[in-house]
Parts: sequence; structure tokens; C-alpha cells
Amino acid sequence: MDVRQHDLRAWGATALLLLVAGLSACRGDKSPPAGESRPRGAATATATVAAAPGETAIKAKPPAVPNAAEAKKYAGAKLKYYSEPVGVGAELDRVMVQQFQKDTGIEVTIIPRPKDATETYSVYQRLFQAQSGDVDVLMLDVIWPGAFAQNLVDLSEKLGEAAKQHVESIVQNNTIDGKLVAMPWFTDFGLLYYRTDLLQKYGYSKPPETWDELEQMAKKIQDGERAANPNFIGFVWQGKAYEGLTCNALEWIASHGGGAIIEDGKITVNNPGAQKALARARGWIGSISPAGVTSYEEEDARNTFQGGNAAFMRNWPYAYAAGNADKSPIKGKLAAAPLPHEPGQKSAGTIGGWQLAVSKFSPQKDAAIELVRYLTSPEGQKFRATAGSFIPTIRSVQQDPEVVKSMPFLASAKDIALVARPSNRTGARYNEASIAFFQGASQVLQGKEPKQVLGQVEQRLTRALR
Ligand code: GLC
Repeated sequence: MDVRQHDLRAWGATALLLLVAGLSACRGDKSPPAGESRPRGAATATATVAAAPGETAIKAKPPAVPNAAEAKKYAGAKLKYYSEPVGVGAELDRVMVQQFQKDTGIEVTIIPRPKDATETYSVYQRLFQAQSGDVDVLMLDVIWPGAFAQNLVDLSEKLGEAAKQHVESIVQNNTIDGKLVAMPWFTDFGLLYYRTDLLQKYGYSKPPETWDELEQMAKKIQDGERAANPNFIGFVWQGKAYEGLTCNALEWIASHGGGAIIEDGKITVNNPGAQKALARARGWIGSISPAGVTSYEEEDARNTFQGGNAAFMRNWPYAYAAGNADKSPIKGKLAAAPLPHEPGQKSAGTIGGWQLAVSKFSPQKDAAIELVRYLTSPEGQKFRATAGSFIPTIRSVQQDPEVVKSMPFLASAKDIALVARPSNRTGARYNEASIAFFQGASQVLQGKEPKQVLGQVEQRLTRALR
């Protein structure tokens, strides 16, 4: 069996996993998103964090617009697109939008969404509440179709045929009351990144499998590296009180045998595995993780790791291509593996990912749909996969040999239990449930007793599910 065959087989297992996982089927109810009743204007673009070391412009050329003939009918239309806010994703959006403008004559203004998903949710809530025409196309997190469905255009007539090429469970996730409210764009799951050169230097032949091993290895490497680099730290992750902490904490808890917060309609969050998992994470702060990790988002962790200042990092697949960019200080020195687990448990990876949707209040719906068609096309997804390691949602693109080659970490995905956030069960109230959960996790990280805090989270979730 040659290498490519091997990779393809491994990827086959991954695709299957993604399929079987059922993802977070997010059938929401029809109630409007909760929020302020006072209409507000359009959101303003938020500031972005500093670029990570070695951030380079995308070298590859974006694909020509396959649907240009149809899209040209709407030449002259002006669109506003709530896009990727930072890093390689933002760069890919920029070059693809330029190509789209050139090929179609449709003008697109890019508005970077807040990089924090929880803040993005609030911005969208305000825009929809105001029935604002200031957004046409928007990025939608995998947990939100249920919450925002009633504000989104049913894409099935124009994009239903194209949607058949995508992983079915994600299409189902984005189909609310028979309407395709968002087109799958890329999928995500949590990974453990590590420095291959440092593992070798300190005598480790493979990445850690258990959390105890991670702690020991991170400590040893940190102690050794600090002689030359006082800023060096063992392990970075996302500890700020926001959606990213929900994803991290869910992985810790699931990999300690503590379940997935809500299971079969039952709130299971307060259990010994969950308590142990959160207490463990609390113990990292100020030892193998920086005190400031409680304000870290994805890009803060990536800046530290990509700058050569951390041995391990929890992050999403996009960090792989970014870390291997030409001028990255750690180019060729990183790999990604399943996150650690307790002995006898499985590695967990929270399922993430983003869709593209069109606002019901857009004055330019047809032009907006053509932008979505282009960005989510097989050509578009292949470009984003090979240039930015964003995992495609189109089955044939997932199996494309160039795509497979650009994401070697996918081979290990068969060992990961993919965990969905409970957006299926909570529907439009997912955000409220997630806030209760990440605020609880955050309190434990700040030193509160896990059992007591999880008891309070349980009560808040009970109210949210009522
Ligand atoms: C990533 C995931 C998304 C998740 C977010 C949390 O963007 O794709 O699903 O909600 O991270 O920070």
C-alpha cells in the first residue's frame, strides 16, 4: 500500500466519523432570538488581534467563479459579508471576494465578524432584531441554525442540488422545518498540537495519550526551555469565558468519562468525571499554562504556540496550515494529535464548523446566494482546505489527494470521540445554555469548588430547557 492509499483510507475513516457523529443537529424552535427589543444599527467591525509570527499572504490563486455566468446577472449589486475576522481565514476571504468581484461585477464589502463566537451571536441578534438590511451574507456557527432560522433565506431552491454533495449530517443540521437555512462551509474538531522537535529533544517518541502524561511532558519541556526562553510555557488553550471555553471544557469532561452536558434530554453536567476534569484544568493555570490563559481565545493560543513559546496547544484544524506557513518560526516542527484522555476513556474532540447564510432582510438576496455558492463550491472548499487547512464539507473534496496530503493529522481522527454541543436539544436557547456552562467552567478556573458550581450550572440549564 503506498502512502497516498494509506492516507486516503485513514481519511475514509474520518469522513465516516464525521458522518456518523450526526453532528449537532440543531433543530430549533420557532421563537425569535431573545435579545434587546430596541432596534440597533449595524454592528461595527471589531479590532483584530496582532498577526501571529510568520503570517504571510496567501500564495495560491483563488479559483475562478464557476457560477460567474449566472452571477453576472446581478452585476452592480452591493453586498455586505460578515466574514472570517482574523488570520489565514480572513486572508482567504479577502482573495476570494476579490476574485468574485472581478468575475461577476458584484461588489462585496467585507465586515469581519467579532472573532469571539459568543460576541458574534449578539451582533447577529441585534441585526436581526432591527430587521437590518446591512448584512447580506453571514458566517453561521454549527450551533446556530436553530436559533437564527427564521431570519434566514431558504436556500434549497437555488442551492439544494449543490447541498447534495455535502456531508449529510451537516446539511441536516442546517435544515430547519424543511428549509435549508445555511450552506455547509467547513467543519472543525479540537486537536492537540505539539512541537515535534521539542518532544524529540526531551526524549519523547510520541505525543501524550493521557492528561497525566501531558502534564508531565509539558512540565519537563517548560522547565528545560525556560533557561533560554523565560516566556516559554507548557500548554495553551482557550480559557476565556466564551463559546471557546464551552468547547474546551466539553472535551476535558468527555475525556474524563463525564459525558456531554446534556444527554438524551437529561442534564448530566454535575458528575464526578466532570468535577475531576474541571479541577484538573484549574490546576494547569500558573503551572503548565499561563495565568493569562483565562482570557485566551483561539488566536491568543496560536500566537503563543506559533511564536515558539509553547510545547502544546489545544486548537482547531486551521492552526495547522498557519503554523506551517513559510515564515512561521515553527514551520515543519508541529504536528496535531487527538487530545489526551483519562486512562480507560477516549480522546474527545468538540465538533465545530461554520456555514454561510443569507439574511431574510437582505435587499440583494439573489446576488448574496451567488457569493455563498462560490465560497462553498468544491473549488472554493479545495482552495480553503489546501491553503488554510479548513476541513471541507463536500465528500469528494474531502477525498481529493491534495486535500488529504495537506491535512496529515486527519489520519489520527479515527481515535477521537467527536462530541456535539447540545444545540439540537436546546434549539433557540442554545446560547443561554452555553453561557451557563462556560460561566460555570470559568468560575472553577478562578478557584471555585467544581461540585458546587456544577450544581448551579445544572439549575440554570434546567431553567433554559424548560
Ligand atoms: C470554532 C468552531 C466553532 C466554535 C468556536 C468557538 O470557530 O468552528 O464551532 O463555536 O470555534 O470558539
